[in-house]
Amino acid sequence: MKNKLEDLRKKILEELDKAKSGETLRELEIKYLGRKGELSNILRAIKDLSVQEKQEIGQLANTIKNDVTAKFNEIKREVEGKEIAADFVDVTIPGKKIARGHLNPISIIQAEMEDLFISLGFLVADGPELESDYYNFEALNIPKTHPARDMQDTFYIDKKNEQGEYDLLMRTHTSPVQIRAMQKYGAPLKVVVPGRCFRSEATDARHEHTLYQFEGLLIDENINFSHLKGILELVGKKLFGEQTKLRMRPKFYPFVEPGSNGEYTCSLCGGQGCRVCKYSGWLEVIGAGLVHPNVLRAGGIDPEKYSGFAFGFGLSRLAQLKYGIDDARLAMSGDLRFLQQF
Ligand code: DAH
Repeated sequence: MKNKLEDLRKKILEELDKAKSGETLRELEIKYLGRKGELSNILRAIKDLSVQEKQEIGQLANTIKNDVTAKFNEIKREVEGKEIAADFVDVTIPGKKIARGHLNPISIIQAEMEDLFISLGFLVADGPELESDYYNFEALNIPKTHPARDMQDTFYIDKKNEQGEYDLLMRTHTSPVQIRAMQKYGAPLKVVVPGRCFRSEATDARHEHTLYQFEGLLIDENINFSHLKGILELVGKKLFGEQTKLRMRPKFYPFVEPGSNGEYTCSLCGGQGCRVCKYSGWLEVIGAGLVHPNVLRAGGIDPEKYSGFAFGFGLSRLAQLKYGIDDARLAMSGDLRFLQQF
């Protein structure tokens, strides 16, 4: 019995020394010190011994129990201390920074343009990206068989109307919103329309199938070409700086008469000529003109009483020029290495 007790003491102390976690300690506690543990079993057996043995073994058993319990508590304190240290959180350490998103360069230009036009009293309108053939072409003075339709490669929707025609498409420009705005608000009218447009283009560094435009329309009595020019000059100065000059030359667009393009002096070379402006010194970013009477009529406005001007900017192209981006596809790529530069 005596030997048994000594062996047990040795075994317990050894195992306690090896215990590393609170969990092993709890297991050991049950195994040796618990009510059904090995030590308790021996203690229970003492009652069957002779009086002399009872005294001797009883004493030994109690010393062992006390020793083991003391050791047990010591190890327990050690292990718990380590576990608390491992769990410790230093609340004074600065937190991890969560990366903040930011605007795409096209959105930055769009917001700048909107600010300018809002300050001039224009309202900002929106229109559907899935458009009807009527608003995208017909109402803008581009009849079904007109060759001007070839200027804009169009994504048609694969669904015929009751007449068996494909009359739904992804809008190729923001100009259909001119008609929608005229029908909704009538004249006089000052409206700009930023938005996404689609062309069935093979994509390369200069072309994207999805592009952003910024349309403008002003209708009132006695509006003429100089009003248009004044506004476009203002936009150029705002976007590219005070020294920016505007050049307008005749260009055919079915929805305006006279029609014109608009070019700014190249912001990168200051008009000296460089790769971006193809050594011409000018950047073509605008289509514009005086609204065609047929377009005013389609919008429900009397061309005898009112006249107006309209213009359309390529926002994607403006962003490319302003930030010197040499590939049109980057702005839509979602590539953070590109986007984080703005
Ligand atoms: N919608 C034309 C395009 O996408 C651009 C344009 C030209 C808009 C002349 C206009 C305009 O409002 O008057 O090519």
